[in-house]
Amino acid sequence: MTLFQAANNKTSSQDSIEKRLEIQNLLDTNLIVSSRPGIDVIEGLNRTAKSIPVRYFYDNRGSELFEEICELPEYYLTRTEMSILKQYASEIAQSTGICELVELGSGSSTKTRVLLDAYNQLGYPLYYVPIDVSAGILESSARQLLADYPSLQVHALAGTYELALAQLQPSQLPSRMICFIGSTLGNLNSQECDAFFSHITATLQLGEYFLLGIDLQKPKDLLEAAYNDSQGVTAAFNLNMLEHLNWRFDGNFDTTQFEHWAFYNEAEHQIELHLRSLRSQTVELRALNFTVHFDEGETIFTEISRKFDLNTIQQQLNAKGLVTQKVWTDSNRWFGLLLCQMQA
Ligand code: TRP
Repeated sequence: MTLFQAANNKTSSQDSIEKRLEIQNLLDTNLIVSSRPGIDVIEGLNRTAKSIPVRYFYDNRGSELFEEICELPEYYLTRTEMSILKQYASEIAQSTGICELVELGSGSSTKTRVLLDAYNQLGYPLYYVPIDVSAGILESSARQLLADYPSLQVHALAGTYELALAQLQPSQLPSRMICFIGSTLGNLNSQECDAFFSHITATLQLGEYFLLGIDLQKPKDLLEAAYNDSQGVTAAFNLNMLEHLNWRFDGNFDTTQFEHWAFYNEAEHQIELHLRSLRSQTVELRALNFTVHFDEGETIFTEISRKFDLNTIQQQLNAKGLVTQKVWTDSNRWFGLLLCQMQA
């Protein structure tokens, strides 16, 4: 091949990527999100029990740190879910038949590749709808996937789950599977979880599928180690929320004056993440014209990560009309993957 031909080939594969890619940014068009930036931060920090909304975890640095968390020796979740997916992906593909894959919180789409491979091997057409709040990671992973899977079509949606599900077009293939993996369900409280399931059932047609990956209940020491890793990456991830507020709202949080605090609340079956103020201090977010005081030892609640029981979650899903077809787990029963089908 001459240099000229090589360059030409490259252009044509580039062309083919453009033809197979559509990206829709729902955040730009959603005025509610952008009209009063930071109002949610003020609300959270004005409460008696202070909190910061979870979406402030994910600036560029936060997304990088999150990828690092997934590689940590103590953080068994990603590895375990990946091993279950690898073992059962072809069974999933055979169960659903040809279907469009919609993924909520697609991020780097690493785990999705295992599913795409399985559908590809059966000779099924590949249509993928990744949904993520981070437009940057959405576009770069979509382009990478299109380069690696020549028959793949991607329609990416940048936005929240609610916005994206509400705007989803009819499936391009005979059926559809909505994937919600990585135990992100655990980061919703039980009311949010209930509302979320209602969004799913409102979106799916009868007979369509929902694939859910959840972290299961297990001894406290294993759980607490996963969220208090020895390298301090989870601590950095949690503290990065304050840095994020600093750059976004011209703030002066001193991250050396706060510490990461994560523990397992056994009664509620959930990991709770907080930031604890190491001294009495006042912080200003100048762009919001907002000042907040912290007592020594006062905490800011940042996230929960609920741990599930397989029977209870199946009952909840079934009550919503999401009937479990198959349940897979690893040999330790640490993580669960459920394939549900929408019924009347
Ligand atoms: N959903 C995963 C979990 O609950 C990943 C995750 C979300 C996470 N937020 C986090 C991990 C905060 C560590 C800290 O574990």
